[in-house]
Amino acid sequence: MIALGSDHAGLPLKLEIIKLLNELGLEFTDFGTDSPDRVDYPVYGKRAALAVASGQCERGLIFCGTGVGISISANKVPGIRCVVCSDCYSASMARRHNDANMLALGARVVGVDLARMIIKLFLDEPFEGGRHAERVNLISGIEEEYRGQYSKQEQEGGCSS
Ligand code: RB5
Repeated sequence: MIALGSDHAGLPLKLEIIKLLNELGLEFTDFGTDSPDRVDYPVYGKRAALAVASGQCERGLIFCGTGVGISISANKVPGIRCVVCSDCYSASMARRHNDANMLALGARVVGVDLARMIIKLFLDEPFEGGRHAERVNLISGIEEEYRGQYSKQEQEGGCSS
């Protein structure tokens, strides 16, 4: 199961990629938006990311104008490793070395044909594990190290100096 999400700028590319997923016979859940009206990308990046982090979906594909804002948003959810890619090599290596579980694409950056190639690679490539797994574990360690850290500071009155 693949989680989809986009803002208004990413919607046209998301609709093209839905065609690809249907061609490939892959199941997906679309967490919006489904209208061209202006919306805020963090809302949709978070929704798709929560579906991936919770295990409801295996991978996530998200779209905004550049892919940047929505990827930053998704990466705020613990357990998410979202990459913004506009080339095939990065998409492949993001799977092989980084075990990325979400891909963000910029609808104003990549054309439909390139986006289809990037997504096929992202969905097909395996994680190589080994020494790369140790590094991915270090990424998770950073999340653990700072989990709850900032909200605790707020409770204690914040950093006021
Ligand atoms: C919307 O205009 C645009 O800012 C958004 O889609 C995205 O590119 C932000 O990173």
